[in-house]
Amino acid sequence: MNVRWLGAAALAGAVAVAGGLWLSGQDARAAGLFPYRDAAAVARGAEVYAEYCASCHGADLEGEPNWRDRNPDGTMPAPPHDETGHTWHHPDVQLFAITKQGIEAIVGGDYRSSMIGFGDVLSDTEILEVLGYIKSTWPEEIQERHDALNRATAP
Ligand code: HEC
Repeated sequence: MNVRWLGAAALAGAVAVAGGLWLSGQDARAAGLFPYRDAAAVARGAEVYAEYCASCHGADLEGEPNWRDRNPDGTMPAPPHDETGHTWHHPDVQLFAITKQGIEAIVGGDYRSSMIGFGDVLSDTEILEVLGYIKSTWPEEIQERHDALNRATAP
């Protein structure tokens, strides 16, 4: 992961798109953009995950083996999306932008990654739901820390 992502201008657009879909009240706003407490949305997100994400990030969100070590071609393996990884270190807007645009577009320069953008394949709602599913699997303490991160980084 990379602090340069924090400055990615593309994120502002992602917030505008994502924000309109889920934020209906003060509580929802406080918890961020992902519908991780909405059982139906989480169930749909789990299906998207199994179809589009599990092949790299693992059926149980465990990531690839030795995910901290670079591949021989210089790219990074897929990290876990459970609480042992660093997905929860990033606020909703960043995770949304990564999933929609891919990591190369977010990091820029000549950075190479097999994490493609899913913007052509998944709707914004599907992206929010799959990320909501991922967040729904985190322990409550991690969810709360992630909610706090969203509040601290809200534009
Ligand atoms: C072809 C393999 C592949 C698929 C399929 C894939 N990813 Fe990834 N993903 C990666 C890799 C590899 C990385 C790490 C890339 C890097 O650091 O350069 C990554 C990173 C990420 C990150 C950043 C996580 C972090 O902790 O920094 C998110 C979020 C993410 N993926 C979400 C998804 C979602 C959601 C899906 C399904 C819609 C998905 N990915 C499908 C390979 C994949």
